[in-house]
Amino acid sequence: MTAVHDSASLIYRSTASQALEGEARVPGDKSISHRSIMFGSLASGTTEISGFLEGEDSLNTLRCFRAMGVSITDPEAGRVTIEGVGLHGLKQPEKPLYVGNSGTSMRLMSGILAGQAFDSVLEGDASLSRRPMKRVIDPLVAMGARIDAGPEGRSPLKIHGGQSLKAIDYAMPMASAQVKSCVLLAGLYAEGCTCVTEPAPTRDHTERMLSGLGVGVARDGARVCIEQADPTTRRLEGRRLEVPADISSAAFFLVAASIVPDSEILLTHVGLNPTRTGVIDILKAMGADIRIENRREVGGEPVADLRVKSAPLHGIAIDEALVPLAIDEFPVLFVAAACATGRTVLTGAEELRVKESDRIAVMADGLAKLGIDATPTADGMIIEGRGEPTPFGSATIYAQGDHRIAMAFAVAGLKARGEVTIHDCQFVETSFPGFAELFNRLGGCLELSRH
Ligand code: S3P
Repeated sequence: MTAVHDSASLIYRSTASQALEGEARVPGDKSISHRSIMFGSLASGTTEISGFLEGEDSLNTLRCFRAMGVSITDPEAGRVTIEGVGLHGLKQPEKPLYVGNSGTSMRLMSGILAGQAFDSVLEGDASLSRRPMKRVIDPLVAMGARIDAGPEGRSPLKIHGGQSLKAIDYAMPMASAQVKSCVLLAGLYAEGCTCVTEPAPTRDHTERMLSGLGVGVARDGARVCIEQADPTTRRLEGRRLEVPADISSAAFFLVAASIVPDSEILLTHVGLNPTRTGVIDILKAMGADIRIENRREVGGEPVADLRVKSAPLHGIAIDEALVPLAIDEFPVLFVAAACATGRTVLTGAEELRVKESDRIAVMADGLAKLGIDATPTADGMIIEGRGEPTPFGSATIYAQGDHRIAMAFAVAGLKARGEVTIHDCQFVETSFPGFAELFNRLGGCLELSRH
């Protein structure tokens, strides 16, 4: 388990391909993998995880909990065993906790660390150090936490331990599962029932997993609350956790198979939590042929196989209600929109500006370089789809430290007249180890080199 980000820039060269075909299981869900390490560490007893994402982001979470004294095995083919230390068993780390590129690690862990008896420091890479943390600092401070941050609430975050936290009833100003989870996790250490009301539904893995491990989270409409008011009664029980394949990783292949004529692929064991399936609804509204087969439930999460066949796509006005349910999939959805016939309009997605990169600016820029009429707006984008066999020209794109930008432009290369060259692809390791190999196995043409 070595870090990848100090290695030389990885370059992808993506060119047009024949039809994509085959069957694949993409790596484990990133959100659930992070949470399985965090909650398994805070549980009493042993947690055995299968399907764990061995990507840099979730490995950074794993390393942080090891640094706080938790015994966690090296992942092996997605299997990890954690000897949980209980809610109050973490030890003070000797050094700052480094979370790399991962907003989920920093925001969720800040909630956990605010409730500890010891001081700690959370820091990340250049991309994460630009991202807003005030959104977690504000509610944590309202609960009684003490946190020092850089200008405008940027990381590193110094979290002072030994504070006694009080429950809050928090009306969250933005639709963010990370903020919701942070507050609920701090709520595990607070006196009283912590509640969060969300302005729109966001992914609910924290609620499902905490309930599955023994701390109930009750939902009433848009409001979720920790059920037990007395902190001394709260306890997570270690158990088996199975992580489904990540729909956010599957999304690259949902689009790839949709846009390359005569393709048909089967993506197996994909997590279909209803708070994550916006990408399927949006692609279907554009005309995609995606069939859901073999629906089942695994460890409290719905799972299914997705069969995708190529289909002519058309532009749409994307329903704003679907935005939080597809929040990580917009880079590749913009590529789908560029291939579709007619205009696609996205609004209500200003959160895209504060992801691993400003995904509105970086995608609009890259699409424009490839010859697409893509107009960024404050909260979305307007894309004039070309509806042609090869809508993209050639260009060199910089992924700006953002894994999903790199993978989205690799997909664009499938429909390029020339070559799409993408720099900074080493960040793909954060969420999708083996992406290039799988892309090529299913029929794509991706060449890799280091610079
Ligand atoms: C995540 C929530 C989302 C998402 C991120 C993972 C999570 O972030 O973009 O990739 O695991 O809770 P926001 O909460 O900032 O929307």
